[in-house]
Amino acid sequence: MIHMGKQFIPITKPILTENETQAVAEVLSSGILVQGPKVQEFEKKFAKYLGVKHAIAVSSGTAALHLALLAAGIKKNDEVITTPYSFVASATAILFCNAIPVFIDIDKSYNLDSGQITAAITEKTKAILPVHLFGHPADMPQIAEIANRRDLIVIEDCAQALGAEISHKKVGTFGTVACFSFYPSKAITTGEGGLIATNDGQIADKARLLRDHGQIAKYEHIILGYNLRMTEIAAAIGLCQLEKLDEWNEKRIENAEQYAEQLKKIKDIEPPFVAHNVKHVFNLYVCQTKQKLRNKIVSYLQKNGIDARKGYPRPIYRQLLFKNHKYRKLPCDKTEQIINQVLQLPIHPLLSKSEIEYIVTKLKESFKKSV
Ligand SMILES: Cc1ncc(COP(=O)(O)O)c(C=O)c1O
Repeated sequence: MIHMGKQFIPITKPILTENETQAVAEVLSSGILVQGPKVQEFEKKFAKYLGVKHAIAVSSGTAALHLALLAAGIKKNDEVITTPYSFVASATAILFCNAIPVFIDIDKSYNLDSGQITAAITEKTKAILPVHLFGHPADMPQIAEIANRRDLIVIEDCAQALGAEISHKKVGTFGTVACFSFYPSKAITTGEGGLIATNDGQIADKARLLRDHGQIAKYEHIILGYNLRMTEIAAAIGLCQLEKLDEWNEKRIENAEQYAEQLKKIKDIEPPFVAHNVKHVFNLYVCQTKQKLRNKIVSYLQKNGIDARKGYPRPIYRQLLFKNHKYRKLPCDKTEQIINQVLQLPIHPLLSKSEIEYIVTKLKESFKKSV
């Protein structure tokens, strides 16, 4: 890609073709613009892809988390154990329910460390909310085991991991309810969009009511609800995107393999960890390097037209918003440490082999210039 006369490689790039344009044009000429047949078809195909009974399409991933927590019965002062290293929405959705996020540290996959959950449980604990960050699944077998034993709800945040698997089972099928995002940086996009997936009929019914004003029939409002519906335009785009999902994930995995092979030659860079039994779908390619080098490397790559990033600048509990909201935390030393070491590189499906070679060449140069 050319940017102001120079090569520019974006960190992420949604893929939209003539198919999406055509699908949107058809919706526009149909005159049905919100939550109609396209949304229904998208929900049906998504549920089939994932292998769950119910899919409820909504207006964003954040809306999906908010409604999933409410539909699962999370209430004021309930504690929800989650990760401090994520996009802020995985924690703010807990606050939307007036519940209390309890942050525990992460493991080497950047996900909530399942070994710390038990120490964080109190009599107020109602749920665990793992995030499958960057496309690597959280330790769901262990999380599900603890949740079963302690009678806790599990809400999976799959926003960054659509198509990821543990032992050939897709993330989003381990917990009580799962949430997806179709923001443009995700595996598939609908512009803005999200979806709740569950096998629990009661949670599905409640989520459907909550997304549409608590409306059971026209103008019959039986609970306090919201307007968090998906548009027909978004669903039409989503249907085209869903057809390409597996192909795009495979391309991300191939790109990651090429990176891993070439990064072996750079000793001060640690490529992403991949657990032996998982399918990591690389929504982002996240390495680590020494703290004192990281910022220089990112600047050097940026100057050379590579959209490298530093990732989340602080653990969620250190966001200013928590000055006014309750939370609890265990020590999160690993999170605090990696914040300054993370280096994100472009990995989207349109990235070519020669672009990866160029990125690695510039990365090598940046080490020579920075040390
Ligand atoms: C882990 C995670 N959770 C939740 C969200 C929220 O999704 P959305 O932007 O669609 O509201 C995002 C992404 O944006 C995310 O990366």
